[in-house]
Parts: sequence; C-alpha cells; structure tokens
Amino acid sequence: MPISRRKFAWGAAASLGGGRMLNEMAYAQRAAVPLREAPDGMVWLNANENPEGPPPVAIEGAVRSLPAAGRYHYQEFREFYAAVASSEDLAGDQVLVGAGSSEVLHAAVDAFTAPEKPLITMTPTFEGPLEVATALGRKVVRVPLTASHSADVRKMAEAAAGHSGALLYLCNPNNPTGAVTPKADLAWLVANLPPRTVLLVDEAYHDFADTPAFASALEFVRQGRPVVVARTFSKIYGMAGLRAGFACARPDLIAAMSPFRNNVISYVTAQAVLAALADRSRFLPGRRARVLRARAELCAWLKEKGLNYLESHANFVMIDVRRDARPLIFAMPRRGVAVGRPFPPYTNYLRVSIGTDADMAKFREVFWSVYQA
Ligand SMILES: Cc1ncc(COP(=O)(O)O)c(C=O)c1O
Repeated sequence: MPISRRKFAWGAAASLGGGRMLNEMAYAQRAAVPLREAPDGMVWLNANENPEGPPPVAIEGAVRSLPAAGRYHYQEFREFYAAVASSEDLAGDQVLVGAGSSEVLHAAVDAFTAPEKPLITMTPTFEGPLEVATALGRKVVRVPLTASHSADVRKMAEAAAGHSGALLYLCNPNNPTGAVTPKADLAWLVANLPPRTVLLVDEAYHDFADTPAFASALEFVRQGRPVVVARTFSKIYGMAGLRAGFACARPDLIAAMSPFRNNVISYVTAQAVLAALADRSRFLPGRRARVLRARAELCAWLKEKGLNYLESHANFVMIDVRRDARPLIFAMPRRGVAVGRPFPPYTNYLRVSIGTDADMAKFREVFWSVYQA
C-alpha cells in the first residue's frame, strides 16, 4: 500500500502531543486540518502546490538518475549551478541551491541577522524566515502590510534604520494575500536601504503575477545591489516533494550564505531540475495560463455569490468570508477539502490554492455549503 505522506505526518504529529516537532510534522499540523486521518480523495488546496506535479521530463530525469544515486556526485554540481544560474542570466557563483527555497531563506537569516542585526519582516507573510530568526534569538520587527495588502517599504526601511545592519524579508507576490509590491516601491526600497542591510525578496509565486506593476528584483542582483532573490521549484514546476529552490545574489552574499546550508542537494532532484529547466519553455506558459484561467473562474464565481476577495497574483486566493474564517477552515477538511491555515490578523479570510478544475468544483460545492450553514 502506498504510504500517504499526509496521513503519516498527521498521525505522528498528533502522537507528539504538541511537544517539539520535526519540521515535516509541524507543517502537517499547521495545515489546519484537525483530523488524524485524511479522508480518501481529499482535495488538497492548503499549500499552494501545483496539481500538475513534476513535468514528465523531470520525472524521466529523476528516474534515469536513481541507479547512480549511490554517490554524492559533488563533481557534477559546478555544472548544475551554472545551469540553474544561466536560467536567470546569472553566473554560477551568483546562485545557491537548497532543499526548497526554505533552505536558502534559512541560510539568509543565518548569514545576515545577528544579535545586533534584526530581521524586519512584513506581516502577514510566509513565516519561514521569522521562525528561524526567532529560534536564533534574533530581534524580529513585524511591519504590517499596506492597505493594498503588500509590503510597506517605507515602514520597513524605517524599522531597519538605527541598527547596525538588518535583513529585510519581502515576499512578492505575497503569501497569503497574493498582492504585488509595486515595482516603484521596490526600487525605492533598494535605493534607500540603510547601511549593512540586505534585502531578501521571496519570489516563490512570481510566475503567476499578471500586472505591469510587478517586476522581479533580479534586476537589482544583476546591478550588484545588496539584494537576495529566492526562487523555488515547488510552485509552478510542481516539484514541491523533490525539494529544490535557489537564491540569487552577488557572489560575496552567496559566499556568506553558503556555509549555512546542507552540503549537497539530492542528486536525483538535481537531475529532475536540469531536465525541467531544459524543457521549461515548453510547459511553463501552459501551466501559467491554466492557473490564471482557474483563478479568474474562481473570482468570477465569488463575485456572482456576492463575496469579496483580494486580487491575487499567485496560485491562491484570499476570500473575505465576512466573519471569523476559522470555523470554515476547520469544517471543510471533514467534507473533503483542505484549505489554508488562518493568517491573523486577516481573521475573516480563507486562503484557497488553485487546483485542477475538478478540485475547484469540489471546493465551490463544499465551501458554499459550509459558508451557508
Ligand atoms: C512565499 C514562500 N516562500 C517559500 C516557500 C517554501 O517553499 P519551498 O521550500 O518548497 O521552496 C513557500 C511555501 O509555500 C512560500 O509560500
């Protein structure tokens, strides 16, 4: 019988009884699904994954590499780094690959915060950097979002000033709001970074942005600014379970982060990534178009039902349920649909990832019945 990753993780998380948990189990519990067992056929719309999964070429690359997985293959990684870097017109010493972007975000917190250098993060946003900084005992400053649900760059710069350096974490488009920090704001922030401050821009969802207001911060990396851009193969590439992501930055910043990551990523994953990158022009546009279409269809349906939502530039949508969303979030899994965890202070919002058409039909059916109950 195939092991269900999620069923296993939940059972184990429950048995740990809220004590110190391994990361995988903490994430499973955080999925806001208070069941010990996932019902068969559960629709997973809680973690912004891609229901299409890895592209077939990546699966072939991984399978081909398995018999050779008895060795680390250290000597092949220079070429691997060069391939990842050239996918963004960068040189091999301007990228750092990790087990998911989580690992490089972690490395950035390790490298660029210190007892006297806080982490400044927008809030709410992806919590990974905040959790690492907290565990390290670093000072963390949380800067609320603007009225348009994106980074308040002026407040973030203000919060960084007066320290002897800082790390600013900016997620663009932002998880969970899906909002884009306008490119003019990003440019202003880069131009106004206090001394010894590094800007970490998490672009996990950049492929789904659909507005001229969005611009990648890679431009600033190419200009040699103190900017680190994090990218992942977990979202549009559909390879979350393979664990690969990368940071792009000046070689000195990459060198500073490098000691804080694991010594080598999975060779099987590296081969999957290489195959996916070589073929990406064939599958990425179609994947993007499918997510944007399904996102638009969901928004049209919400409008029809008289519900508001935040305009999203990612593969998820935040729906305003006009009351505490938690009872809905916890009721839906029992009806076969897992949605995003609560994101205070956005307490009246429910975040749903974009799945297949069948997933979204089930979401609409279950959401509407729970909403009306
Ligand atoms: C904004 C953001 N950054 C990073 C991650 C981490 O993803 P991974 O480690 O799979 O690349 C996530 C996961 O959902 C995310 O939403």
